[in-house]
Amino acid sequence: MGTTETTPAAPGGRSAPASGAAPGPQAARRWVRPLRTGRPGAARLVCFPHAGGAANSFAALSAALPEDVELLAVQYPGRQDRRAEGFAEDIGALAAGAAEALADAYADRPLFLLGHSMGALAAFETARLLRQRAAVARLFVSAARPPSQDWGEQDVDALADDEVVAELRRLGGVPEPLLRDPETVREVLRVLRADHRALRRYRCADDAAVTVPLTVLLAEEDPKNSAGQMRDWARHTTGPYGLELLEGGHFALTERGEAVAPLLARYLRRDLEGAAEGSPGAAADAPPSALIRDILLGGLRGRRPALSTDLTTLEDAAREALEPHAYGYVAGNAGTGGTGRANRAAFDRWQLVPRMLRDSSTRDLTVRLLGQRLPAPVLLAPIAAQEVVHPEGELATARGAAEAGLPLVLSTFASRSLEEVARAAGDAPRWFQLYFPADRALAESLVRRAESSGYSALVLTVDAPHFGYRPADLDAAYSPFLRGTGIANFTGDPAFRAGLPEDAGDAGDADGLAVVGHWARICTDASFTWDDLPWLRRLTDLPLLVKGLLHPDDARRALAGGADGVVVSNHGGRQLDGSVAALDALPAVRAAVGDGVPVLMDSGVRSGTDVLKALALGADAVLCGRPYVYGLGLDGQRGVSHVLRALLADLDLALALAGCPSAAGVPAGTITPSGPLPTVSEQDRTQR
Ligand SMILES: Cc1cc2nc3c(=O)[nH]c(=O)nc-3n(C[C@H](O)[C@H](O)[C@H](O)COP(=O)(O)O)c2cc1C
Repeated sequence: MGTTETTPAAPGGRSAPASGAAPGPQAARRWVRPLRTGRPGAARLVCFPHAGGAANSFAALSAALPEDVELLAVQYPGRQDRRAEGFAEDIGALAAGAAEALADAYADRPLFLLGHSMGALAAFETARLLRQRAAVARLFVSAARPPSQDWGEQDVDALADDEVVAELRRLGGVPEPLLRDPETVREVLRVLRADHRALRRYRCADDAAVTVPLTVLLAEEDPKNSAGQMRDWARHTTGPYGLELLEGGHFALTERGEAVAPLLARYLRRDLEGAAEGSPGAAADAPPSALIRDILLGGLRGRRPALSTDLTTLEDAAREALEPHAYGYVAGNAGTGGTGRANRAAFDRWQLVPRMLRDSSTRDLTVRLLGQRLPAPVLLAPIAAQEVVHPEGELATARGAAEAGLPLVLSTFASRSLEEVARAAGDAPRWFQLYFPADRALAESLVRRAESSGYSALVLTVDAPHFGYRPADLDAAYSPFLRGTGIANFTGDPAFRAGLPEDAGDAGDADGLAVVGHWARICTDASFTWDDLPWLRRLTDLPLLVKGLLHPDDARRALAGGADGVVVSNHGGRQLDGSVAALDALPAVRAAVGDGVPVLMDSGVRSGTDVLKALALGADAVLCGRPYVYGLGLDGQRGVSHVLRALLADLDLALALAGCPSAAGVPAGTITPSGPLPTVSEQDRTQR
């Protein structure tokens, strides 16, 4: 239920039909109220009020914004100075009116739309209507469940006036003195009931989507909304999606302007700077392969990429640049390195059979995975203890991933806590990788923390009940974890600390040995079996993937235990040396689970054509592993960003040259085992 924080205009006056889509500057003045002008060229934020609210609901937020932000607020008909017009019939009419006004009078600059509670639906619909008429840079939705979810419980008509007032008190948003004034309450209820009628008429298709980055603002103590409910917003954008947690309740946005304003201003600046620099996040229209043009044009001004665009060479560059123990930790394989080599050799054993004269003028790299839309079929693999290669560790990785809009799968053994990484990721998608610990209370605590920090999927890694036999680490007598790096998710966890003696220090202290020792005892549970998987399944509603499978029967067992999908992987050759290459295991796993079940793969992916080969063999997406960690070690966030941009540019071009315009629909016939091509009739059958 929304409320009004404003003093309503005096009751009375003639009712006129809602003005819906009336065009022209007058309509613009009726629908859109400048609350804060900002300095010339300021970023333009347009706010949509909640049910019962009005343009001046955003007064506190407006006052707290910096000079470089302009704030416009939408004034819905039927209230305050628009009382005489009567109410809008439905959310569509609100959006039509606002879109018309914005397109007419405010389309000279990119628009940032922000809707609070019911206003989120109006802003969402407005963004869809504006698609052809104005540049929308980002959509923020605050305290609002996704449009395709049921808003039906908000039936205030079924409540008596005093019940509605009680609910208004519970949610906050209307100052108590106003709630004691009968005339104000009458007007508040009149507006609120009408807005709720519009809300109840609202229907949205499951696949209705905007094409811009979408950020959900959720207050931690909002009694009406939870992080779990918010995940479905991801389905309603084809751009990057993310969640920001605010302190406070349902009205955190409008009541705690001083806390929210800097966050919003940061987004606005970053998006506008990104657009000016042509970064991939903001220049949503430029295909990833535009990087090639940018690099070559840069050459005319004497510029060259800082890191190679051949991602296979970054390992050598890292060997030169990193401390030997750090390089060994990342590059090291298990045993003789046989599986590491097999991973790469498998990619070489498959060849692409490109098809010609298929319109490749535009390519669609987006894929849908676990109900989330990703800009490309690529995620950042969980890699532990990243501070070993760069002091900013996973924070720089999260920012680099966010720039590309690709999900980072954060390791349980990260060197920064999952909460810190969530803050660094901002609105970017993020998943959490779980090593199941030998303590169920700790397992539950990790999962709950991931849920409430906006991680939108859980990846359970099952191929590392013990660390592999890794000569590089053994010869250097080196483990980051025993030195306190890579255990940040544990040291602050209440369930973990409950198992420590009272006087245990931190991992870095002299008494930190107790911490590290306790961690070593419970960090994984080697007795975990398929029989335990349903326990984890019941623990959370997050989508669940099982990572580290190579045998088709294991993939079937994962699904039987409640997993939503699998990751075919041999941990990049770091666990059981001599095991089968991940790419070779992929087709049988895909065949075992059938179409429609998410299958991801990693281990050996180094180029865009590797990604294409994995897609052609049945993967829905791949995880990029070591290359981005080398990028991190060599150049921090910029290095991560470089690796991801290069990988996507190569993939984009590979799709075009192979005659596959869509990453989500790469035909199996795009690939063939190396060696003589199949017979003419076989080729004809498989490669249509
Ligand atoms: C240094 C390093 C640390 C890793 N840490 C984890 C981890 O914490 N959790 C996990 O599931 N996989 C981990 N992996 C495996 C990766 O997620 C991924 O499966 C692997 O890197 C893919 O192989 P590639 O890097 O050769 O492409 C790690 C890999 C490396 C290289």
